[in-house]
Amino acid sequence: MNMKIGILGGGMVAQAIGGKLQALGHDVMIGIRNPDAGELEKPRNGGKPLKEWAATTGAKVGTLSATAAHGELLFNCTQGNGSIPALKSAGADAIGSKILVDVANPLDFSKGMPPSLLPEFAHGTSLGEEIQKLLPNARVVKAFNTIANAVMVDASLVPGDHDLLIAGNDAAAKAEVSALAKSFGWASIVDLGDIVGARSTEHLLPIWIRLWATSGSAMHNIKIVR
Ligand SMILES: NC(=O)c1ccc[n+]([C@@H]2O[C@H](COP(=O)([O-])OP(=O)(O)OC[C@H]3O[C@@H](n4cnc5c(N)ncnc54)[C@H](OP(=O)(O)O)[C@@H]3O)[C@@H](O)[C@H]2O)c1
Repeated sequence: MNMKIGILGGGMVAQAIGGKLQALGHDVMIGIRNPDAGELEKPRNGGKPLKEWAATTGAKVGTLSATAAHGELLFNCTQGNGSIPALKSAGADAIGSKILVDVANPLDFSKGMPPSLLPEFAHGTSLGEEIQKLLPNARVVKAFNTIANAVMVDASLVPGDHDLLIAGNDAAAKAEVSALAKSFGWASIVDLGDIVGARSTEHLLPIWIRLWATSGSAMHNIKIVR
């Protein structure tokens, strides 16, 4: 079923997910803080200028609040340290009880590379849980945060069997996100239970980043073997 989808954030993750969903027939809008002409023409770290991205994909770009209102299903693809302010700007009313797929990682780049986890999200909580607390009516599903953006939307870029990890409180929301993931080529989706499972996927980032640094490639993922 084709849907209206709102993606908060305008970086390479938002562009990869938004571009893929638009190509699959969904109606996508990306939301950033200031979608004025100058901002849309600005080069984006690892992504295209949003004006070029919109022209190439046919998707739209708007404000955070317009994007939250546009989407029947939403993605949080903002920087982890900006996710809470971004979601506050998007607005609890516009987000309502929609599914909110949280792809963000609470990474702290303030001391350079490699980043560490932001302490306020790393001990006894997680960014996914804090987003669920901020938006108690939203159906938050943590997903896609443990893989590179190109792999998120094309699981076959990593050869063989490997897993997409998801967590969230609402079983129907997880089923809907799993259906979208299957349309991206994901065959194996491992459900880590309620949103507390976001702690475990966010804590995989140090090993993901270490593998990236040592192998020089982002094309890797994990497989749970039982
Ligand atoms: N890169 C990957 O392959 C990858 C893989 C897995 C997970 N992730 C996670 O996915 C998320 C997006 O990654 P990315 O590389 O696409 O990110 P990015 O380009 O660094 O940032 C994405 C967006 O975050 C927004 N943002 C930053 N601070 C904000 C604030 N204070 N308030 C509102 N918005 C703010 C920016 O909005 P403006 O445009 O308005 O400035 C920007 O468009 C991150 O949390 C990252 O950890 C990334």
